[in-house]
Amino acid sequence: MTGPRSIRNLALIGFMGSGKSSAGRLAADVLHFTFLDTDHVIEARAGKSISDIFAQDGEPAFREWERRIVEELTRREKTVIATGGGLPAGQANLASLKNHALVICLWTSPESIWERVRGHDHRPLLNEADPLAKIRELLAAREPFYRQADVLVNTEMRSVREVAQHVIHQFHMAQSAHR
Ligand code: S3P
Repeated sequence: MTGPRSIRNLALIGFMGSGKSSAGRLAADVLHFTFLDTDHVIEARAGKSISDIFAQDGEPAFREWERRIVEELTRREKTVIATGGGLPAGQANLASLKNHALVICLWTSPESIWERVRGHDHRPLLNEADPLAKIRELLAAREPFYRQADVLVNTEMRSVREVAQHVIHQFHMAQSAHR
């Protein structure tokens, strides 16, 4: 990264089911920011669901969509961005987010993630015989990236509202520090 950071946006990263969209929506309401979910932008652009992109075009095509959306995000202001769980596992994606956003990772244990996502069928990466094992494997691979967030927020035992409040507080502190 070059030059001082410009913290204009707030990016939430973290595993599937960590509550990025729910907490992000709430934080955006309170901050009077726009809320943007990268998965929704991709679905709208591609004209199909994430599951269909994975099934018809493959995961590399989906990651390419993510890379393109991340580039566009650099032009955003006053936006709370909820990213797909695998997006920050591209080092360039993470570095790009950090140029314009405070990056906050919502951290959740594999067991809680499984509790939250079971019964949902729109997450193609978890269509596995042993989804909990897959969650553990993906989480272990992504942990080094998630840990590069500016702030880690443990979501265990915290309501969505509490997570959102914490996120907002961290954002205000970062903004005053970078002013
Ligand atoms: C993915 C997470 C999903 C979605 C896609 C891939 C991942 O987003 O981008 O299914 O690689 O972890 P959520 O984290 O919003 O579920």
